[in-house]
Amino acid sequence: MAMVENSLSPASITNNLDTHFIGQRVIYYPSLTSTMEVAKREAQCEAVEGTVVIADEQTGGRGRLRRVWLSPKGSLALSIILYPSMVYLSSLIMLASLAVVRSIEVVTGLKSQVKWPNDVLINGRKVCGILIESDVQKSTVGYAIIGIGVNVNFRLCDFPEISPIATSLSDELERSVSRLDITRQLLVEIERLYLTLQTGGSIYEEWRDSLVTLGKRVRVKWGKTIHDGVAESVTRDGSLLLRRSDGSLTKVVAGDVTLRD
Ligand code: BTN
Repeated sequence: MAMVENSLSPASITNNLDTHFIGQRVIYYPSLTSTMEVAKREAQCEAVEGTVVIADEQTGGRGRLRRVWLSPKGSLALSIILYPSMVYLSSLIMLASLAVVRSIEVVTGLKSQVKWPNDVLINGRKVCGILIESDVQKSTVGYAIIGIGVNVNFRLCDFPEISPIATSLSDELERSVSRLDITRQLLVEIERLYLTLQTGGSIYEEWRDSLVTLGKRVRVKWGKTIHDGVAESVTRDGSLLLRRSDGSLTKVVAGDVTLRD
Protein backbone atom coordinates (compact mmCIF):
# COMPACT_ATOMS: atom_id res chain seq x y z
CA MET A 1 0.00 0.00 0.00
CA ALA A 2 1.56 3.36 -1.00
CA MET A 3 1.98 5.56 2.06
CA VAL A 4 1.01 9.22 2.04
CA GLU A 5 2.31 11.87 4.39
CA ASN A 6 0.73 11.67 7.79
CA SER A 7 2.07 14.33 10.14
CA LEU A 8 -0.61 15.72 12.43
CA SER A 9 1.59 18.39 13.99
CA PRO A 10 -0.28 21.54 15.06
CA ALA A 11 1.51 23.62 12.42
CA SER A 12 0.57 21.26 9.59
CA ILE A 13 -3.06 21.41 10.68
CA THR A 14 -3.37 25.14 11.28
CA ASN A 15 -1.21 26.38 8.40
CA ASN A 16 -3.56 28.32 6.03
CA LEU A 17 -6.53 26.49 7.53
CA ASP A 18 -9.68 28.02 6.09
CA THR A 19 -11.49 28.55 9.41
CA HIS A 20 -11.94 31.44 11.83
CA PHE A 21 -11.78 29.51 15.08
CA ILE A 22 -12.23 25.74 14.71
CA GLY A 23 -8.74 24.20 14.74
CA GLN A 24 -6.89 27.48 15.08
CA ARG A 25 -5.46 26.07 18.32
CA VAL A 26 -4.32 22.44 18.22
CA ILE A 27 -2.91 20.32 21.03
CA TYR A 28 -1.18 17.24 19.63
CA TYR A 29 0.00 14.04 21.32
CA PRO A 30 1.80 11.13 19.64
CA SER A 31 0.01 8.82 22.09
CA LEU A 32 -2.70 9.52 24.65
CA THR A 33 -5.28 7.62 26.68
CA SER A 34 -8.19 9.64 25.28
CA THR A 35 -8.47 13.03 23.60
CA MET A 36 -11.80 13.43 25.48
CA GLU A 37 -9.99 13.57 28.83
CA VAL A 38 -7.56 16.29 27.78
CA ALA A 39 -10.30 18.25 26.00
CA LYS A 40 -12.44 18.14 29.14
CA ARG A 41 -9.59 19.50 31.28
CA GLU A 42 -8.96 22.22 28.70
CA ALA A 43 -12.66 23.16 28.56
CA GLN A 44 -12.81 23.37 32.34
CA CYS A 45 -9.95 25.89 32.09
CA GLU A 46 -11.92 27.84 29.46
CA ALA A 47 -9.75 26.95 26.48
CA VAL A 48 -10.53 29.06 23.44
CA GLU A 49 -13.54 27.83 21.43
CA GLY A 50 -12.55 25.53 18.58
CA THR A 51 -9.49 24.13 20.39
CA VAL A 52 -8.66 20.69 18.99
CA VAL A 53 -7.01 17.87 20.91
CA ILE A 54 -5.61 15.26 18.53
CA ALA A 55 -3.56 12.10 19.00
CA ASP A 56 -1.75 9.74 16.67
CA GLU A 57 -3.05 6.86 18.75
CA GLN A 58 -5.18 6.43 21.86
CA THR A 59 -4.55 3.76 24.46
CA GLY A 60 -7.90 4.21 26.23
CA GLY A 61 -10.23 5.51 23.52
CA ARG A 62 -13.81 5.91 24.72
CA GLY A 63 -16.91 5.04 22.75
CA ARG A 64 -20.60 5.65 23.30
CA LEU A 65 -22.43 3.67 25.95
CA ARG A 66 -19.16 3.14 27.88
CA ARG A 67 -17.66 1.07 25.11
CA VAL A 68 -14.00 0.92 24.22
CA TRP A 69 -12.96 2.68 21.01
CA LEU A 70 -9.96 1.25 19.19
CA SER A 71 -7.62 3.98 17.93
CA PRO A 72 -4.47 2.30 16.64
CA LYS A 73 -1.79 4.15 14.69
CA GLY A 74 -3.24 5.15 11.32
CA SER A 75 -6.58 6.13 12.80
CA LEU A 76 -7.76 9.66 13.39
CA ALA A 77 -8.77 10.62 16.93
CA LEU A 78 -9.66 14.16 17.82
CA SER A 79 -11.86 16.19 20.16
CA ILE A 80 -13.12 19.70 19.55
CA ILE A 81 -14.17 22.12 22.29
CA LEU A 82 -17.28 24.25 21.73
CA TYR A 83 -19.36 26.57 23.89
CA PRO A 84 -22.75 26.41 22.14
CA SER A 85 -25.93 27.82 23.54
CA MET A 86 -28.48 25.27 24.72
CA VAL A 87 -30.63 25.51 21.56
CA TYR A 88 -27.83 24.09 19.42
CA LEU A 89 -26.78 21.27 21.72
CA SER A 90 -28.99 18.58 20.17
CA SER A 91 -27.84 19.60 16.68
CA LEU A 92 -24.20 18.80 17.42
CA ILE A 93 -24.84 15.13 16.68
CA MET A 94 -26.13 16.06 13.23
CA LEU A 95 -23.35 18.56 12.70
CA ALA A 96 -20.55 16.12 13.53
CA SER A 97 -21.81 13.20 11.46
CA LEU A 98 -22.57 15.43 8.47
CA ALA A 99 -19.12 17.01 8.66
CA VAL A 100 -17.58 13.53 8.53
CA VAL A 101 -19.73 12.44 5.57
CA ARG A 102 -18.85 15.63 3.65
CA SER A 103 -15.12 15.38 4.46
CA ILE A 104 -14.82 11.74 3.45
CA GLU A 105 -16.45 12.54 0.14
CA VAL A 106 -14.36 15.65 -0.55
CA VAL A 107 -11.05 13.96 0.29
CA THR A 108 -11.61 10.42 -1.03
CA GLY A 109 -14.71 10.53 -3.23
CA LEU A 110 -16.24 7.74 -1.09
CA LYS A 111 -19.94 7.99 -0.27
CA SER A 112 -20.82 7.33 3.34
CA GLN A 113 -24.07 7.31 5.29
CA VAL A 114 -25.16 7.99 8.84
CA LYS A 115 -26.64 5.28 11.02
CA TRP A 116 -28.81 7.01 13.57
CA PRO A 117 -27.82 8.72 15.67
CA ASN A 118 -24.23 9.31 14.61
CA ASP A 119 -22.25 6.35 13.30
CA VAL A 120 -20.83 6.85 9.83
CA LEU A 121 -20.90 3.79 7.59
CA ILE A 122 -19.44 2.88 4.23
CA ASN A 123 -21.11 -0.05 2.49
CA GLY A 124 -22.84 -0.93 5.77
CA ARG A 125 -19.66 -0.98 7.87
CA LYS A 126 -18.66 1.54 10.50
CA VAL A 127 -15.84 3.86 9.49
CA CYS A 128 -16.34 6.55 12.12
CA GLY A 129 -17.74 6.93 15.61
CA ILE A 130 -18.73 10.15 17.32
CA LEU A 131 -18.99 10.85 21.02
CA ILE A 132 -20.42 14.10 22.36
CA GLU A 133 -19.92 15.00 25.99
CA SER A 134 -21.28 18.17 27.49
CA ASP A 135 -21.45 20.00 30.76
CA VAL A 136 -24.96 21.35 31.29
CA GLN A 137 -26.04 23.11 34.44
CA LYS A 138 -29.43 24.74 34.99
CA SER A 139 -30.18 24.70 31.24
CA THR A 140 -26.87 26.40 30.47
CA VAL A 141 -24.14 24.67 28.49
CA GLY A 142 -20.75 25.00 30.17
CA TYR A 143 -19.01 23.28 27.27
CA ALA A 144 -19.54 20.58 24.66
CA ILE A 145 -16.84 18.32 23.32
CA ILE A 146 -17.21 16.57 20.00
CA GLY A 147 -15.02 13.46 19.83
CA ILE A 148 -14.50 11.96 16.40
CA GLY A 149 -12.71 8.73 15.59
CA VAL A 150 -12.18 7.77 11.94
CA ASN A 151 -10.67 4.51 10.75
CA VAL A 152 -8.33 5.94 8.14
CA ASN A 153 -5.20 3.88 7.48
CA PHE A 154 -5.30 0.47 9.08
CA ARG A 155 -6.32 -2.96 7.97
CA LEU A 156 -9.37 -4.36 9.67
CA CYS A 157 -8.05 -7.88 9.23
CA ASP A 158 -5.50 -6.96 11.92
CA PHE A 159 -8.38 -6.25 14.34
CA PRO A 160 -10.65 -9.31 14.30
CA GLU A 161 -12.67 -8.00 17.27
CA ILE A 162 -14.23 -5.31 15.06
CA SER A 163 -13.55 -6.52 11.51
CA PRO A 164 -17.04 -8.01 10.92
CA ILE A 165 -18.73 -4.64 11.47
CA ALA A 166 -16.09 -2.03 10.67
CA THR A 167 -14.10 -0.75 7.75
CA SER A 168 -11.38 1.82 7.12
CA LEU A 169 -10.85 4.32 4.34
CA SER A 170 -7.69 2.49 3.26
CA ASP A 171 -9.51 -0.86 3.15
CA GLU A 172 -12.24 0.68 1.00
CA LEU A 173 -9.82 2.35 -1.41
CA GLU A 174 -6.95 -0.15 -1.26
CA ARG A 175 -4.57 2.77 -0.78
CA SER A 176 -3.73 5.00 2.15
CA VAL A 177 -5.38 8.37 2.69
CA SER A 178 -3.89 11.54 4.15
CA ARG A 179 -5.09 11.88 7.73
CA LEU A 180 -4.00 15.50 7.52
CA ASP A 181 -6.34 16.19 4.57
CA ILE A 182 -9.24 14.50 6.37
CA THR A 183 -8.52 16.44 9.57
CA ARG A 184 -8.30 19.83 7.88
CA GLN A 185 -11.44 19.24 5.81
CA LEU A 186 -13.29 18.07 8.91
CA LEU A 187 -12.43 21.27 10.77
CA VAL A 188 -13.59 23.39 7.82
CA GLU A 189 -16.89 21.48 7.52
CA ILE A 190 -17.53 21.63 11.27
CA GLU A 191 -17.08 25.38 11.30
CA ARG A 192 -19.32 25.84 8.24
CA LEU A 193 -22.10 23.76 9.78
CA TYR A 194 -21.73 25.42 13.18
CA LEU A 195 -21.95 28.87 11.59
CA THR A 196 -24.98 27.73 9.56
CA LEU A 197 -26.72 26.86 12.82
CA GLN A 198 -25.72 30.08 14.52
CA THR A 199 -26.96 32.22 11.65
CA GLY A 200 -30.39 30.57 11.74
CA GLY A 201 -29.83 28.03 8.97
CA SER A 202 -30.83 24.39 9.15
CA ILE A 203 -28.67 21.30 8.82
CA TYR A 204 -31.52 18.93 9.64
CA GLU A 205 -32.59 18.18 6.06
CA GLU A 206 -29.10 17.22 4.88
CA TRP A 207 -28.58 15.04 7.97
CA ARG A 208 -31.97 13.33 7.51
CA ASP A 209 -31.19 12.65 3.86
CA SER A 210 -27.86 11.09 4.77
CA LEU A 211 -29.43 8.56 7.16
CA VAL A 212 -29.22 4.91 6.14
CA THR A 213 -31.67 4.05 8.90
CA LEU A 214 -34.94 5.48 7.56
CA GLY A 215 -37.42 3.02 6.13
CA LYS A 216 -35.54 0.09 7.67
CA ARG A 217 -36.63 -2.41 10.30
CA VAL A 218 -34.52 -1.68 13.34
CA ARG A 219 -33.96 -2.67 16.95
CA VAL A 220 -33.05 0.16 19.31
CA LYS A 221 -31.48 -0.69 22.65
CA TRP A 222 -31.17 1.79 25.47
CA GLY A 223 -30.04 0.20 28.72
CA LYS A 224 -32.45 -2.65 29.31
CA THR A 225 -35.13 -1.18 27.04
CA ILE A 226 -35.53 -2.62 23.57
CA HIS A 227 -37.72 -1.08 20.86
CA ASP A 228 -38.42 -2.91 17.58
CA GLY A 229 -40.06 -1.22 14.64
CA VAL A 230 -39.61 0.54 11.35
CA ALA A 231 -37.54 3.75 11.50
CA GLU A 232 -40.10 6.11 9.98
CA SER A 233 -38.50 9.52 10.36
CA VAL A 234 -36.41 11.78 12.56
CA THR A 235 -37.54 14.92 14.31
CA ARG A 236 -35.76 18.26 14.04
CA ASP A 237 -34.18 17.68 17.47
CA GLY A 238 -32.63 14.45 16.19
CA SER A 239 -34.96 11.89 17.80
CA LEU A 240 -35.94 8.76 15.90
CA LEU A 241 -39.63 8.03 15.24
CA LEU A 242 -40.28 4.32 15.29
CA ARG A 243 -43.45 2.73 13.87
CA ARG A 244 -44.30 -0.29 16.06
CA SER A 245 -46.06 -3.42 14.85
CA ASP A 246 -49.25 -2.28 16.66
CA GLY A 247 -49.24 0.91 14.54
CA SER A 248 -48.16 3.25 17.33
CA LEU A 249 -45.31 5.71 16.95
CA THR A 250 -42.52 5.82 19.54
CA LYS A 251 -40.07 8.71 19.84
CA VAL A 252 -36.59 7.45 20.70
CA VAL A 253 -34.18 10.07 22.00
CA ALA A 254 -31.05 7.91 22.35
CA GLY A 255 -29.92 4.35 21.86
CA ASP A 256 -28.00 1.84 19.87
CA VAL A 257 -29.52 0.78 16.57
CA THR A 258 -29.23 -2.57 14.82
CA LEU A 259 -30.50 -2.67 11.23
CA ARG A 260 -32.58 -5.81 10.84
CA ASP A 261 -33.25 -5.94 7.09
C1 BTN B 1 -18.65 5.40 19.26
O1 BTN B 1 -18.99 5.11 18.11
O2 BTN B 1 -18.89 4.63 20.20
C2 BTN B 1 -17.99 6.72 19.51
C3 BTN B 1 -16.50 6.65 19.33
C4 BTN B 1 -15.81 7.98 19.55
C5 BTN B 1 -14.32 7.86 19.43
C6 BTN B 1 -13.62 9.19 19.50
S1 BTN B 1 -11.93 9.07 19.04
C7 BTN B 1 -11.64 10.69 19.60
C8 BTN B 1 -12.40 10.83 20.90
N1 BTN B 1 -11.62 10.30 21.99
C9 BTN B 1 -12.17 9.23 22.56
O3 BTN B 1 -11.72 8.59 23.52
N2 BTN B 1 -13.33 8.94 21.94
C10 BTN B 1 -13.61 9.87 20.86
